[in-house]
Amino acid sequence: MMLEGRNVTKRFGGLLALSDLSFQVEKNEIVGLIGPNGSGKTTLFNTISGLYKPDAGRLFLKGVDITRKKPFQIARMGLGRTFQIVQPFEEMTVLENVAIGDLYGSGEGSIMKSRDKALEILEFVGMKQKPSMLAADLTLPDRKRLEVARALATNPDIILLDEVFAGLNETEINESIALIFKIRDNKGITIFMVEHVLSAIMKTCSRVIVLDYGQKLAEGTPQEVSRNPRVIEAYLGGAVCSK
Ligand SMILES: Nc1ncnc2c1ncn2[C@@H]1O[C@H](COP(=O)(O)OP(=O)(O)OP(=O)(O)O)[C@@H](O)[C@H]1O
Ligand SMILES: [Mg+2]
Repeated sequence: MMLEGRNVTKRFGGLLALSDLSFQVEKNEIVGLIGPNGSGKTTLFNTISGLYKPDAGRLFLKGVDITRKKPFQIARMGLGRTFQIVQPFEEMTVLENVAIGDLYGSGEGSIMKSRDKALEILEFVGMKQKPSMLAADLTLPDRKRLEVARALATNPDIILLDEVFAGLNETEINESIALIFKIRDNKGITIFMVEHVLSAIMKTCSRVIVLDYGQKLAEGTPQEVSRNPRVIEAYLGGAVCSK
């Protein structure tokens, strides 16, 4: 098992953002996490990666309990992530942004080695033409790609992708889907991804977990969950169920 959550609960004051949530992600899977706005998807990623501590429940990475570990420890144990709101170091170059990911993920201080690794990753994600551009000057698709490159640089076994397709056009989405398969197939990295672009989820994921109000509403193949009346109702507020 690559990643497992058991009965995870996270509260913000009176708000129950995650409620007794259990889930599993197997090695080499591409699993989707979907749900309406505010259903707890990003909160789950923040809790898995150690930014938030759960109020109850436990999290395991490759069988090791990570519930009380710090973000940098969890990163070094093999969990990489992107952020929904991309946050590169704007005044640094693309190359520097990726090299920092390697320094953070490996915990070693060899700048030259991190630089070489960063160049290799930029080629892998299709940005080898742009190492010296400032992150601030990148277009949205390239900012998203840089975010993925930074996560890859931490040398993960599993990567959490939070809406890496948001704001992309159809061609760019198809390129991103190809990149996700390449990350899994060439690098052997397991993928757990939050996405609102359901057509992309259908093409990419073998299994989908649906959240609603912090609870698991459904789980199954993309076809199964997209036909599930409870899922349709959660997304559309019941509008189609009355017909
Ligand atoms: N740091 C925080 N403090 C207080 N409330 C929070 C915090 N982070 C999230 N929330 C609340 O928790 C709930 C879940 O938010 P979350 O960001 O996880 O949703 P989401 O499923 O990622 O939504 P979206 O699809 O819009 O990104 C929301 O009601 C949100 O307002
Ligand atoms: Mg979110």
